[in-house]
Amino acid sequence: MSDLFKAPKGTYDVVPPFSQLWLAVKDALSTPPRLAGYGYIETPLFEDTALFVRGVGESTDVVSKEMYTFNDRGDRSLTLRPEGTAGVLRAILENRLDRAGLPVKVWYTGANFRYEQPQSGRYRQHTQVGVEAIGSSDPALDAEIIWMAIHSQRTILGLKNIRLLVNSLGCHQCRPAYRELLTAFLGTLELDEATQERILLNPLRVLDDKREHVRALLEDAPLMPDHLCAECCEHHNLVLHFLDLLGVEYELAPRLVRGLDYYVRTTFELIHTGLGAQSAIGGGGRYDGLVETLGGPALAGVGFGLGVDRTCLAIQAEGITLPASNPLLAFLIPIGEGALEICLPLIGALRINGACVDMAFDSRSLKASMKSADRSGAKFAVIVGEDEIKNHTAVIKNLLSGEQTSVPLDLVEEMLTK
Ligand code: HAM
Repeated sequence: MSDLFKAPKGTYDVVPPFSQLWLAVKDALSTPPRLAGYGYIETPLFEDTALFVRGVGESTDVVSKEMYTFNDRGDRSLTLRPEGTAGVLRAILENRLDRAGLPVKVWYTGANFRYEQPQSGRYRQHTQVGVEAIGSSDPALDAEIIWMAIHSQRTILGLKNIRLLVNSLGCHQCRPAYRELLTAFLGTLELDEATQERILLNPLRVLDDKREHVRALLEDAPLMPDHLCAECCEHHNLVLHFLDLLGVEYELAPRLVRGLDYYVRTTFELIHTGLGAQSAIGGGGRYDGLVETLGGPALAGVGFGLGVDRTCLAIQAEGITLPASNPLLAFLIPIGEGALEICLPLIGALRINGACVDMAFDSRSLKASMKSADRSGAKFAVIVGEDEIKNHTAVIKNLLSGEQTSVPLDLVEEMLTK
């Protein structure tokens, strides 16, 4: 036999039983937007490369180092989406959703691709549940978005060790002056060459440096929240006030700068304290101006992306067990000739009525089939053998207690669902 193929580096398969957790997490993360009137949107996995270059920003690591870009057979430059926002905005504009009333509120889920150095929690294909709300500058919308992100993680999934960091990055009016101030400050420090280059690209990103000695140097750096214009200051204060009204616990994080260039004003990140280096399980913020950058009208926007992979890791790190979404009610065991004729219609009827039912295949022995029933996690085994066929009955065995009873065939469904 030749060597088996392996999933590409930095990717993994979502297989049972882990896939149950995966689906439960996706379901939990998308519950708040579904309840808050966000419509579902799905966009292609690949887009014109230029969309991401313009939408995510050329100076970001995502665009400059991490994109999966290729030319198709028609010589178009295409890129596997590294994140969801740019494609969703393109789709909103292309489908003119913004003309049918504002704000346009949508949610999405799907894979994203970034050529990163793989490690625990950092993959080359990762999945997000995200939302975007376009066409409103209302700080109540920022608060709604932040509340949805934290509500799914803290309340629906029950994660305890999450910190919510909130900051304001100012706007296109007040940030340039702050940027100059920060650049001047950074110019007085002795920093390595790579950091000097980052200053040229985006000095704010230096504030996010994780190295202890750099952090010490940055102790007295000017911070954006102290240099907001009056409008940004009012917006920020209102967002925080609304979060208080919603009972959301947060921390002010004046050094929080996210890795994508489009953010203005509100930015936030959810950090799980049990995940080591890849601790961000979600993040988002406002991106007023981005729709215009993509060729659309001057519409404000705000959204988030929550990492499904890292949220699963966080659940495992906290030892949380989520209830199975579809627990198996019964496992049917047909034994001998004529048993399938009885079992198949019974399974059909049970499934039509919404019960979760599996059965033994391949005419295996009772012993082997009972093993499969135990492994399946079903509550009951239903055995139909020679005697049962003769008597028009079935044996229902409670797989937890071991108790078993013989039941007339026409009462099996009622007994199981009772
Ligand atoms: P992001 O912070 O780049 O934001 O990604 C959102 C989340 O996706 C991260 O917090 C993390 O949990 C997860 N994630 C990102 N990269 C990886 C990776 N390589 N491996 C595993 N998980 C990863 C965005 O993508 C923005 N589009 C979010 C947004 C929407 N902002 C406004 N609207």
